[in-house]
Amino acid sequence: MVSRVIPVDPFDLVIFGGTGDLAQRKILPALFRRYCAGQWSADARIIAAARGELDVNAFREMVSVSLNRHVPKRAKDLKALNGFLANVDYVALDALSDSGWSELAGKLREDRIRAFYFSVGPRLFGPLAERINASGLANTETRIVVEKPFGHDLQSAQALNATLAAHFSESQIYRIDHYLGKETVQNLMAVRFGNMLFEPLWNSQYVDHIQITVAETVGIDGREEYYERAGAMRDMVQNHLMQLLCLIAMEPPAKFDPNAVRDEKLKVIRALDPVEPHHIVRGQFAAGPDGPGYREVVGNPRSTTESYVALRAHISNWRWAGTPFYLRTGKRLVARSSVINVLFKDAPHSIFGEEAGRHANALSIRLQPNEGITLKVTIKEPGQGGMRLVDVPLDMSFAEALGPENQDPPDAYERLVMDVIRGNQTLFMRGDEVEAAWAWTDPVIAGWQARGDVPKPYDSGSTGPGDAELLMKRDGRRWQGIKP
Ligand code: BG6
Repeated sequence: MVSRVIPVDPFDLVIFGGTGDLAQRKILPALFRRYCAGQWSADARIIAAARGELDVNAFREMVSVSLNRHVPKRAKDLKALNGFLANVDYVALDALSDSGWSELAGKLREDRIRAFYFSVGPRLFGPLAERINASGLANTETRIVVEKPFGHDLQSAQALNATLAAHFSESQIYRIDHYLGKETVQNLMAVRFGNMLFEPLWNSQYVDHIQITVAETVGIDGREEYYERAGAMRDMVQNHLMQLLCLIAMEPPAKFDPNAVRDEKLKVIRALDPVEPHHIVRGQFAAGPDGPGYREVVGNPRSTTESYVALRAHISNWRWAGTPFYLRTGKRLVARSSVINVLFKDAPHSIFGEEAGRHANALSIRLQPNEGITLKVTIKEPGQGGMRLVDVPLDMSFAEALGPENQDPPDAYERLVMDVIRGNQTLFMRGDEVEAAWAWTDPVIAGWQARGDVPKPYDSGSTGPGDAELLMKRDGRRWQGIKP
């Protein structure tokens, strides 16, 4: 099954912070891959802007090194590489002064989609938005793209939203949560709303509980300063896990359109009950055979920042009342595995008697790696006298099911950057969504601070702190294993 590539309209994409880590590691490689896939119109251009006084050839050399590192297979094709680099330009510019702005203005062309990617810290969002307008760079086809973290709490997110709203309308603002760009995350919507099979059962009458796990093996190396202020709650739960929760729990939108989808996600966030303190476990990784502990990494022997969170959430609405959602995420865990498990209730009555045991269906949606779906079904154990039951997996890996040409699906940034150019906001967070997510997370964090809470240590390479198991055990449940 080969997917069709529909070229986008001609664009000028300005990347502020174009020499930075995110631009070099994610944004430019994603644009290059889309270029190779034939998705660019002939006449599209990228203009990187940053403070350094580089000439365009030096910048192209820098991009070439990055592409060789991050997209090695494609960067070996010199024709493609040179064709791409010919469309990459550079301007030295300062967000906080007039320097470079008229040169940038001179490079932008009329009748093109104009997108400005703010690949810089949030303190520059305001100055950049203001100067884009003051320099007359914004046209009706202008879009701006901003990265997470979108604020540190509700108040700072509101301030950022107000700053951007002073210069751009909501329909021009693209707030990135890269989880929404992942193919398998979008697949959550396809599985739920493209099949008749699941939706009738997708409620508290049939679902016992749902587990959302985003386990990582990586630590926080190189991001110590940011992470020490953020912790797992701000870094992962407020955004990525929240988005997964929304997509799993939301009502069917009337259509796959930006506001219809985002309205439904917002309703989920607003229906979340506050988290009870005894329904949340914080952890911090300790030293292990694969490296030092968190406190050593950040150089703060008293750090109380969490690198792990497990919590039980409740959505107070008709569909989900009574069905808990267990969320967990952590760094330096035993395996990299993002998976959503939907655990169904037992059949109401067993016709096979006690000896058949208790069996319940479970649907696992693996987001990464080994993307796919497994449905646990109950069948008769073969060859036994009587009727003994056994659970077996109906297992599907997307790569196998969709054929070899889909082994390497577009990376999240490829989809998202092209959606910016296409002017499709469905996979971007709306301002009110981000604020609602902070409004739910803030009291949890404030509670920890007020109680002087200290995260529980857990071994690097483990499944997290023991208390997370207790959180489940108290409810008569257990976490599904974290498997690579
Ligand atoms: C980022 C977080 O947003 O997402 C990181 O800041 C985290 O801490 C990363 O490691 C996870 O993304 P992915 O795509 O590797 O699952």
